[in-house]
Amino acid sequence: MGVLNLAVRDGVLLMTIDHPPVNALSRTVRAGLMEALARLAGDALLRGGVLLGADNIFVGGADIREFGKPASAPTLPEVLAVLEACPKPVVAGLNGAALGGGLELALACDARIALPSAVVGLPEVTLGIIPGAGGTQRLPRLTGLAAAIRLIGTGAKLKADEALRQGILDDIAPDDLPGAAIAWLHGPASAKRPVSARTVPADAPSAVEAAAQAAVKTGKGRPAVRAAIAAVKEAAEVPFAEALQHERHAFETLRASPEAAALRHIFFAEREAVRLPESLRQKPRQLETIAVIGAGTMGAGIALSVLEAGFWLILLDQNAALLAAAGAGLLRQLDERAQAGKISFSSAERARERLILANGWQEIDSADLIIEAVYEDLSVKQEVFRQLDAYAKPHAVLATNTSYLDIDQIAAATSRPRDVLGLHFFSPAHVMKLLEVVQGAQTTPDVLSAGMELGKRLQKLPVMCENRFGFIGNRIYNAYRTHCEFMLEDGAWPEQVDEALEAFGFAMGPFAVMDMSGLDIAWRMRKSRAAGRDPRARHVPVLEALCEQDRFGRKSNIGYYSYDGGKRAKETDQTVRAIIAAASEKRGIRRRDLSPEEIQRRALMTMANEAALLLAEGVAQRASDIDVVLVNGYGFPRWMGGPVHWARGQGRAKLEEGFDIIGEAMGFGFRRGDVDLLL
Ligand code: 3HC
Repeated sequence: MGVLNLAVRDGVLLMTIDHPPVNALSRTVRAGLMEALARLAGDALLRGGVLLGADNIFVGGADIREFGKPASAPTLPEVLAVLEACPKPVVAGLNGAALGGGLELALACDARIALPSAVVGLPEVTLGIIPGAGGTQRLPRLTGLAAAIRLIGTGAKLKADEALRQGILDDIAPDDLPGAAIAWLHGPASAKRPVSARTVPADAPSAVEAAAQAAVKTGKGRPAVRAAIAAVKEAAEVPFAEALQHERHAFETLRASPEAAALRHIFFAEREAVRLPESLRQKPRQLETIAVIGAGTMGAGIALSVLEAGFWLILLDQNAALLAAAGAGLLRQLDERAQAGKISFSSAERARERLILANGWQEIDSADLIIEAVYEDLSVKQEVFRQLDAYAKPHAVLATNTSYLDIDQIAAATSRPRDVLGLHFFSPAHVMKLLEVVQGAQTTPDVLSAGMELGKRLQKLPVMCENRFGFIGNRIYNAYRTHCEFMLEDGAWPEQVDEALEAFGFAMGPFAVMDMSGLDIAWRMRKSRAAGRDPRARHVPVLEALCEQDRFGRKSNIGYYSYDGGKRAKETDQTVRAIIAAASEKRGIRRRDLSPEEIQRRALMTMANEAALLLAEGVAQRASDIDVVLVNGYGFPRWMGGPVHWARGQGRAKLEEGFDIIGEAMGFGFRRGDVDLLL
């Protein structure tokens, strides 16, 4: 069996692409398609052809693994030109996802019939490229420019019914897809009718512009998004063949860009991260019923995720009023999400039936996995774990959602530390994809596997890490934020640091983030750690001084910045500047200007250095896991690939020099990472 299985049924050639895992259009598949099309064209007994995908996917796109090198013949545009010119009609039978080159293949056919479960999309911009095999030219000929820009410019996916409504599909077959495609080929509409020969339906220019602006906004103005919009617009302005060449040229240029390489890196890193290292892989413990302890914001967010994934959920809180409010909130959110089409009405209904509100510990005895999400305080959490130990059934997995505390100290409150692990969710828990799965000193592999499995079933990105202060994400972010505070003392104002890092691509600068999360929280943590701090270590006391003046951030309308009706002031006010200047003076620093480039370099070098330390300590399993964490949980720009990917791009000499600079700025207590671990 090759990558293309051929069979003849009722005078029709069935061509099934069978190239696991996603039937990507690798060179061997493209060559197979060329041969099959030649047979179809040359066999007088064949009336037409049907393209299908094996298993439950049509085609997941061009083979992204081939993108690092120049395209080899036959290229996808060459295959599609032959397909479109084939004298016999060909129907695409979409038995599952048709994405990127997969949808382009279908668009070069004479008709598209799909199973109801199929999805279509051109997600190329998410990889820093544009469709390179006619997608930007054929799709608008079916949908009009505005809809094509919406789809291609954002990389969104459409379900089959919506794709039918937009004219991308010709029909939906409820079950026998090959049968429906064969029937089409024997029916009255079976003549060749290439999409490229059609004219683009007229759209109001204002609708086209609105779609373009929305796509630029969603795509943060990245070059691929702008190029995609420009290419789609050409469909209405430039002859097909010429526009196709422009599209291919833009595709090739973008494909070779550092941004596309970074996005490919993170695409594969995310798929790698969810796998445990071989030595730890084990059949996970079975998970059917999940309990969440604590009905606060975090607990309720986790509960929503768990319910939507189809588990039974026991939500426990001893505060009856809070529990009732959280329960009502969950029902309302399930309803709203079904109304908004985010989940089906039937799964919302099933989730409602699976929600159990509990206020007594004995009610958790049926749970296979219990997630504690109570107040971040060691003794409070230990008390919860004593109760879990008393009431959870044997072999239940016991998880803590702590972000900073020591998992082993929490596990020590139980008689079963082997069953305990950390599951660090990010807020809002039903939205954020990242999940740090933390292995304690005694956590067994099947418990760890259960944590990873839960993450996957919640459609999150579970990343394994070892139990060390801050795990992966907070450890790096802390180092970064601390260094940003050094830069304040050295001469930068908060807005200069924030603007430089936002210009690099961070969703928000560190001081804007601090104001948002509340300075009092950081203040409390600093006070609790102050006793352990060596007086020789550099410490910038600005946050403490702000808090002493009741400047707690957004919640008090004033922090590093002042806020007017929620709007952040462009600059920090004189009080903050005076506090910062006083700190500089106290340390004997003559303030100087820091350029945006210097700010970016120092902040990123700090991240890279901490990443190297995490790798040396074995806290992170793989360098790419660190990138996955920072991109998905900390607003690191995806198109930069993550701090390790960034560091690799710098090369050894610049990294060594950068580590010298940040080491000098920190002084006492600086630990230098091993550059080799990053390269
Ligand atoms: N090329 C190469 N490998 C691919 C791939 C692709 N297009 N798409 C997925 N894979 C690999 C993954 O790396 C993973 O490999 P692994 O098992 O070794 O880690 C494996 O296939 C399974 O992938 P997922 O874990 O993502 O599987 P899911 O079932 O969750 O999702 C999917 C399937 C929806 C197809 C998802 O993989 C996906 O979104 N893929 C990318 C789709 C895409 O962006 N296509 C456009 C490619 S660019 C293009 O087509 C250019 C054209 O215009 C010329």
